[in-house]
Amino acid sequence: MRSDGIAEKAVDELSGSGIVRVAALKGISRFLEHLELLQVRIPCDPESLCGGESPLSQQLIRGGIRLGNRIAIHPMEGWDGAADGNPTERTLRRWRRFGASGAKLIWGGEAVAVSHDGRANPNQLLAAAHTRAGLDQLRSTLIQEHRRTAGSTDGLMVGLQLTHSGRFCRPNLSDRAEPRIAYHHPILDRRQGLPPEYPVLTDGEIGGIVENFHRAAVMAWELGFDFVDIKHCHGYLAHEILSAHTREGRYGGSFENRTRFLREIVEGIRSAAPGLRIGVRLSAFDAVPFRADPERSLQGKAGPGIPEIDSSLVPYRWGFGVDPHNPLEPDLRETVLFLSLLEKLDIKLVNLSAGSPYYCPHIQRPAFFPPSDGYAPPEDPLVGVARQMKAVRELKHQFPSLIVVGSGYSYLQDFLPQVAQAAVREQWVDIVGLGRMALSYPELLRDVLEGRGMARNLICRTFSDCTTAPRNNLPSGCYPLDRYYKESELGARLQNVKRRIRGGAAQVEEAG
Ligand SMILES: Cc1cc2nc3c(=O)[nH]c(=O)nc-3n(C[C@H](O)[C@H](O)[C@H](O)COP(=O)(O)O)c2cc1C
Ligand code: SF4
Repeated sequence: MRSDGIAEKAVDELSGSGIVRVAALKGISRFLEHLELLQVRIPCDPESLCGGESPLSQQLIRGGIRLGNRIAIHPMEGWDGAADGNPTERTLRRWRRFGASGAKLIWGGEAVAVSHDGRANPNQLLAAAHTRAGLDQLRSTLIQEHRRTAGSTDGLMVGLQLTHSGRFCRPNLSDRAEPRIAYHHPILDRRQGLPPEYPVLTDGEIGGIVENFHRAAVMAWELGFDFVDIKHCHGYLAHEILSAHTREGRYGGSFENRTRFLREIVEGIRSAAPGLRIGVRLSAFDAVPFRADPERSLQGKAGPGIPEIDSSLVPYRWGFGVDPHNPLEPDLRETVLFLSLLEKLDIKLVNLSAGSPYYCPHIQRPAFFPPSDGYAPPEDPLVGVARQMKAVRELKHQFPSLIVVGSGYSYLQDFLPQVAQAAVREQWVDIVGLGRMALSYPELLRDVLEGRGMARNLICRTFSDCTTAPRNNLPSGCYPLDRYYKESELGARLQNVKRRIRGGAAQVEEAG
């Protein structure tokens, strides 16, 4: 592996020796110097503006949509629904906090499965007749809290993210994967232990999933959600179908076939729920799967990520938005075609993300500390932030009629407000989305805009516990900074899990 040309080049290019923590960069000039050293371009204003002066407070009116400001909350699943797919008190708390953030675009709340078998974990929310009242309560709780804290719901849009987890389904037991795959992937199949005869979803089964999306969207419409997101990101089913180059039949091969799933879902929603808006969250580019370098994993600490690829897999035929001849690089040509298709389908709302948390988390959610199943950052995470911002900028420039939301901002930490403000002002993006920061400190941008300044002790430092917890069968939340988790028995349980992982890894080291 290491002797292979592609992997070696990637290790040379990506190995992040001596990554400087953002919290150690005292002041904006140090931050700017650091960006220069990294040779990455991230727009950043010298100071944060308050109130109406800030570009983040400006309303956005486009294509018949009006949003009260330029802030979105990304969908953030909590692995804390009931076994039957209904929300729990914890789920309600999270949505309430999203409502209090002041953001005028709530992009989907969290991924909600369109069928039981499509759930990513046994605690994922489900859109079904018996969860109708629960989903209604989530929406109304969020709106009520938004009204209470922001004073009005004017310009607020609340969506519901609909999903089928495809390859990453675990509907029944947290330790039993039940993948529903669109095609055989040479690396992910090996990782997941799927033999060549493992069944691929038939065209008929995919048609059935399309109908589940219709049914779920109609329910969202009846409940008063402003839009549904047809989730096309992070390696889940719709995203996997976009990269089904090797699949035969109606949903694989040509671009036309690989986008049939989306077109059929949209067509059905348009006829069954004619007033409902549609959005799409898309991994604008992907990467090959990464893993911790075993040669540099020491004493319970995962080594830096290296790509798990060799030259026999090039040209790479298992990615969307990936250069087949250099699969470590994005290639946005098909992404552009996809956004053109969205325009044709009269879809105005687009939320751009990248990669997958399962096989290339550093691409999707740049972090200093890896989750328990991850790897140490193979690059300065600011490079990852800049990569997403650059792709969004290029795409937004080509599609001025779309409303484009950007992702991956949480790693900016103390500098998030100035970067977000500059990115909107310089038209790199229309709306800045908050993911992890919305778990640790949902009101960050509201505090800044209302002149209170930031509560530094709540700033997400990308400890990744919100990913480590669900990987170990605990609900997701900000364990280090949110007292609700930190001081509960959940916090103690996560500490035990982490101790066990460290101990186990140290024992392996000793034995080795
Ligand atoms: C715990 C956790 C749960 C997530 N759940 C979802 C989800 O349900 N749907 C989705 O599209 N993205 C999900 N994401 C990805 C985030 O929406 C976001 O894209 C990512 O965290 C990067 O943005 P950030 O840098 O602001 O965190 C999740 C991320 C985390 C950390
Ligand atoms: S656990 Fe908290 S601090 Fe860590 S990445 Fe998640 S939100 Fe950020």
